[in-house]
Amino acid sequence: MNPLFARKSIALLQSEADEQEHGLKRSLTAFNLMMLGVGAIIGAGIFVLTGVAAAKYAGPAVVLSFCLGGVACAFAGLCYAEMASTVPIAGSAYTYAYATMGELVAWIIGWDLCLEYAFGATTVSIGWSGYVVSFLKNVGLVIPPSLTHAPPEGIFNLPAVIIVLLVTALLVLGTKESANVTSAIVVVKVLVVLAFLAACAGYVKTSNWIPFVPDNTGKFGEFGYSGILRGAGVVFFAYIGFDAVSTAAQEAKNPQRDMPIGILGSLVICTLLYIAVALVITGIISYTHLNVPDPIAVGVDSVGLTWLAPIIKLGAILGLTSVVLVMLMGQPRIFFSMANDGLLPPIFAKVHPRFRTPHVTTMLTGLTVAVTAAVLPIAVVGELVSIGTLFAFALVCAGVPILRLLDPDAKRPFRTPAVWVVAPLGVLSSLGLMAGLPGDTWLRLVVWMAIGLIVYYFYGRKHSKLRAAHRVPAP
Ligand code: ALA
Repeated sequence: MNPLFARKSIALLQSEADEQEHGLKRSLTAFNLMMLGVGAIIGAGIFVLTGVAAAKYAGPAVVLSFCLGGVACAFAGLCYAEMASTVPIAGSAYTYAYATMGELVAWIIGWDLCLEYAFGATTVSIGWSGYVVSFLKNVGLVIPPSLTHAPPEGIFNLPAVIIVLLVTALLVLGTKESANVTSAIVVVKVLVVLAFLAACAGYVKTSNWIPFVPDNTGKFGEFGYSGILRGAGVVFFAYIGFDAVSTAAQEAKNPQRDMPIGILGSLVICTLLYIAVALVITGIISYTHLNVPDPIAVGVDSVGLTWLAPIIKLGAILGLTSVVLVMLMGQPRIFFSMANDGLLPPIFAKVHPRFRTPHVTTMLTGLTVAVTAAVLPIAVVGELVSIGTLFAFALVCAGVPILRLLDPDAKRPFRTPAVWVVAPLGVLSSLGLMAGLPGDTWLRLVVWMAIGLIVYYFYGRKHSKLRAAHRVPAP
């Protein structure tokens, strides 16, 4: 067999998980995992992008965009759940690709996941900075714009750097501590969303929903049915994060049972909340007023509930904090798995003797994300996150049926229902949403992947432990 396609067997992966039992600490319950998922999911997507998607692309039919995005994620979620229960090892889709499609594809997906996690943390910390600046302005504290924007508008984004460094410090101190902070934040942010729904539902005017699907302007993606599709591409960002649960598989107490609960449970909760928020926000204010950085707060103001707006902003700030936390937790764990396989230098797999967290890679990730958040614009990084995540979804959905064929007897505590329908639909819907993204985003994806292949060529393939174990020479 071509060594590039050398696969790890499920048995090997499961025994590695047992060996590493003494590395990362198994401390997370199904509830913690679900909270981790909701913590990663609800963030800039619902608090910021709902407004843009409604005002520019879909109108009130942004509700349907959320349904479309939710359906695509449900296909991927079902595949991720089987993957995470079969291969409960830190590293998520990367580890799974190793078992299904071999080392080269595993490397590609691991490298690609940096776009989702590291750049995801970058994007959300920039959004966090925007909400903090707006909140501080309300209480009379103005930070000079030169310190809140990347060049050329400013010097660097100071609040984004601060939140990234704070979260990094917390993650070095402990996974359980980080998960507890996430659970507390998640409760607050879900309460804020529910408060918005309860306070504003009575102000909905059905006239704001008419026409529900505004006429297309003549351009693809600007209202009409193509606008619903483009809107789905935009609000897809709001769903990113449920798969982050799978990166903590090695720290779950009972991964086989709890991973599917964590992944699917958090996805269902968020989809229902999103659809409700989209209905209410487009019902209380005309969608034409929603192209703002804080659409939910603007909606609340428009019905005269001015006391609620600062609470919403505070909820958004907390919500975005937990997204940054889960993303910054996911990235080092992917590097950890890649280093354990020899594809990255061993320093990435170091575990702190007392805290039992991958502290070196956590700090390296934190510093890199702090730098990118300081100097990059949100639009560029945001689109890269979406395309990278969709690519990973497509590969995972393809991998599930492949592994059913290659290893039909592996223990699968959770099996994707109707896998021969769900998995192909997952691939197609991910590719469909990718196709809707602009050409320059595709170009950045290709450049990023090319850099990854160069790193693999010069380091990974030469140090691969699997290759060494099988005495397969590097090609
Ligand atoms: N789903 C996350 C958010 O909306 C990435 O911020």
